[in-house]
Amino acid sequence: MKLKSLLFSLLAASVMSGAALAQAPIVIKFSHVVASDTPKGKAAERFKELAEKATKGRVKVELYPNSTLYKDKEELEALQLGAVQMLAPSLAKFGPLGVKEFEVFDLPYIFPSKEVLYRVTEGQIGKDLMKKLESKGIVGLGFWDNGFKVMSANKPLHLPTDLKGMKLRIQSSKVLDAQMRALGANPQVLAFSEVYQALQTGVVDGTENPPSNLYTQKMHEVQKHVTVTNHGYLGYAVIVNKKFWDGLPADIRNELDGAMKAATKYANAIAQQENDNALEAVKKSGKTTVYMLNDKERAEWRKTLLPVQKEMEGRIGKELIANVNKEALALGYK
Ligand code: LMR
Repeated sequence: MKLKSLLFSLLAASVMSGAALAQAPIVIKFSHVVASDTPKGKAAERFKELAEKATKGRVKVELYPNSTLYKDKEELEALQLGAVQMLAPSLAKFGPLGVKEFEVFDLPYIFPSKEVLYRVTEGQIGKDLMKKLESKGIVGLGFWDNGFKVMSANKPLHLPTDLKGMKLRIQSSKVLDAQMRALGANPQVLAFSEVYQALQTGVVDGTENPPSNLYTQKMHEVQKHVTVTNHGYLGYAVIVNKKFWDGLPADIRNELDGAMKAATKYANAIAQQENDNALEAVKKSGKTTVYMLNDKERAEWRKTLLPVQKEMEGRIGKELIANVNKEALALGYK
């Protein structure tokens, strides 16, 4: 009798946990390093909202902004190990994964406008780049825009020669390393979460980032001068663990794909405005002088940094660089 009731309760418990399991939502942990109040942070929130709605709660997206879960390098390892399912690292951070072609986005002056950028990210070049991730156990779901970069320091930066000898923080990209060396500066790779403190304590003298990142990390509070150089670009690839993605029920994957497409549209629609607002907020803070280059200075920056495109052909591929430049030519840029 006793054995019978024990067996019965074991059976009941397993049926119940089976039912609970059937109802448990699929969890997507989405980790990123920037503030929620940025183009990437907002697009991630939009994706969560759309994905949960479209799947009627069968999927739960947990957002971990501001490096609360992982820093730059760790998050890529965590994705490959399956500890998180989704990330949106900047395109400058794919080199350590062994897909150095993504560093084409870091080349100085490679995108004369956002129009050219979109031709690349939404065209064949973007598709081919995403394909390269598959052998790394990663699927690329979309490119999210952020913006063109400004330079910051505690002294005015008007000409490229003003950066000579300075220690400048960069993301982990060999192209950015070459870019800073072309300016005669000493580049130093640091995780994004460490930049504010490194600037504050003088570990580095300056850095580059789009205004939205500069402002939301309060870098302007420890940098007296910002120069709008627009010398290079920073954007993202949203990526998922391939095993996780391929293992999803097909209908769920479809819904998530739709949610990602809509979130991508949203990201690209708000990015420029977010950066314009951030630059205005930096000016208004009164803590930082924002300098706009004149034509002569802009020409000097271009002359100094453009050779980096040629210098990096060996790393990124001559053809890929030429193909990106062709997209600019197709739109009438020289
Ligand atoms: C940086 O490290 O400066 C950026 O990649 C941060 C980000 O994700 O925008």
